[in-house]
Amino acid sequence: MSDQTNRRDFLRTASVAGTSLLLSPSLSAGSFFTGSPNDKVVIGVMGTHSRGEFLARTFAKLPNVEVGYICDVDQNVLNKTIADIEKITGKKPQGFTDIRKLLEKKDFDALAIAAPDHWHAPATIMGCQAGKHVYVEKPCSHNPHEGEMAIEAASKYKRLVQMGSQRRSFSNVQALVADLRAGAIGRPYFARGWYTNWRPSIGTGKEVAVPANLNYDLWQGPAPRQPYKDNLIHYNWHWLWNWGTGEALNNGTHEIDVMRWGLDVDYPTKVVSGGGRFAFQDDWQTPDTQTITANFANNTAMTWEGRSCNGYNSEGYGRGVIFYGTTGTLVYPGANSYTIHDQKGKVVKDVKDDIIADPTNPVSPTEKLDATHLLNFVSSIRGDAKLTADILTGHKSTVIAHLGNISQRVGRALVCDPQNGHIQNDKEAMQLWGREYDKGWQVRV
Ligand SMILES: NC(=O)c1ccc[n+]([C@@H]2O[C@H](COP(=O)([O-])OP(=O)(O)OC[C@H]3O[C@@H](n4cnc5c(N)ncnc54)[C@H](O)[C@@H]3O)[C@@H](O)[C@H]2O)c1
Repeated sequence: MSDQTNRRDFLRTASVAGTSLLLSPSLSAGSFFTGSPNDKVVIGVMGTHSRGEFLARTFAKLPNVEVGYICDVDQNVLNKTIADIEKITGKKPQGFTDIRKLLEKKDFDALAIAAPDHWHAPATIMGCQAGKHVYVEKPCSHNPHEGEMAIEAASKYKRLVQMGSQRRSFSNVQALVADLRAGAIGRPYFARGWYTNWRPSIGTGKEVAVPANLNYDLWQGPAPRQPYKDNLIHYNWHWLWNWGTGEALNNGTHEIDVMRWGLDVDYPTKVVSGGGRFAFQDDWQTPDTQTITANFANNTAMTWEGRSCNGYNSEGYGRGVIFYGTTGTLVYPGANSYTIHDQKGKVVKDVKDDIIADPTNPVSPTEKLDATHLLNFVSSIRGDAKLTADILTGHKSTVIAHLGNISQRVGRALVCDPQNGHIQNDKEAMQLWGREYDKGWQVRV
C-alpha cells in the first residue's frame, strides 16, 4: 500500500469518529468511501443549473473522476445535467432532489456545491458530517458566522473543504504572488480591484404558483420562507439578501481573494462601503454600484469597485486587480497574465497567457483555467496535492466582502478585530454576522 493510499484511507477513517448529525437524523457517516480501484474519485454535484453544470462537466472530464450523482430541486435542470453527463461519459449519474437523501449514499467521496449562496455553508457542514470532502462554490457562506461553522466542520470531521476561488490554482497568479513576495514592486501597500458588467433590471416580481418542476421548499432550505415570485429563480436571487450576497460576494470575492493574497494579509482592522442600487428601481436589494475599502494592520489597504450595471472597463479590462508598491506597480487583468511596471510606467515584466477573463460570462469567466482548481481538489483527496483554497483561506477573503456589505447596510465604517474579523463596539452591525434559520433548519456543526 502506497503512502498516498495510506493518507487517503486515514482521511476516510478519521472522519467516522464523533459524527453528529445535522438536519437529517437519518444520515450515517459510516463507511462512506467508494473503495473504488485506482483511486477513482466519485463526486456528487448539488445545484446544476449554471455553474454546477459546468462543474459536473469539468469533473466528468478529469482522469479517473466519476460524476456519480446529481442533485437539483428543479426536475428540468436535473434531467438535463444527467443527460449531459451521460453524453460525455456514457454512464448515467443517479439523480436526487433532496440533498439529505443523496448524503445517505455511501459510495461517493466528495460533494460539489453550486446551489445558491444560502445553501453553501449548511450543505458544506452536512457534507462533512456525512463523511464527504467538499468543493463549495464561492462565497463559502451567506454570512460570516456560517463561514466559521464551515471551518469548524472541516476540522471536526477531518474533511477537505475547497472553496471555488479558482485563481488560487492559476499558475500565473501563483507566480505574481511569488513576484510580489520577492519584492518585484518594493513593498506592495495598496491594491485596487474591480468588476464590471451590464446587468439588466430584474423588474418587479409577481407572486405566482410555484412551477411543477421546482421544489421551492427545498430550494429555500435553511432560509426563512418568502413567497415565490416569477423573477427570482434562477439566478436573480443573487440580488436579494434572504438568499444572495450581491456582487461583492458574487464576483468581488475573486478580486478580494487575490488582493488579500498579494498583500499578505488576513482579517482587516477597518472596513467601509459606499454605493447603492442606483441603475434601476426594481426588486434588486443589494448594491449595483459599490466600493469597499479595507485597512490592515501591516499598513496596507485594498479597495474593490463593483459596477453591476455599467460595464465600462477599467485599464482596458472588465475585471482585474492592480497592486501599488514602493518601487513599482503590478497589473493583473483577472485571468492568468500580469505585467509589472517601473516608476515611469514602463513594462519591466510581461507574463502572458492567451486567456482573458470575460466578466460577462456568468458561468465561468475563466472557463479553460478553472479545471486546474477542480484538479487540485481531486488530487488533494488522493493525497497528491495540498488544497490551494481551503475553507479557512476562502473564509478570510469572503469575510472582507461580507464586512463590506454589513458596512453598506448599517451605513457606517466598521472597526474589526484583526484576529478574526469580528466587528467591535457595534451591536447593530454584529447582528448581521449571522442569520435566522427557518424552523427545523437550524445549522449545527
Ligand atoms: N467560481 C466561479 O467563478 C463561479 C461562477 C458562477 C457561479 N458561481 C457560484 O455558483 C453558485 C450557483 O450560481 P448559479 O449562477 O449557477 O445559480 P443558479 O441559480 O443559476 O443555479 C443554482 C442551481 O441550484 C439549484 N438548487 C437550489 N437549491 C437546491 C438544493 N437544495 N439542492 C439542489 N439544488 C438546488 C437550483 O435549482 C439551480 O439549478 C453561486 O453561489 C455562485 O456564486 C461561482
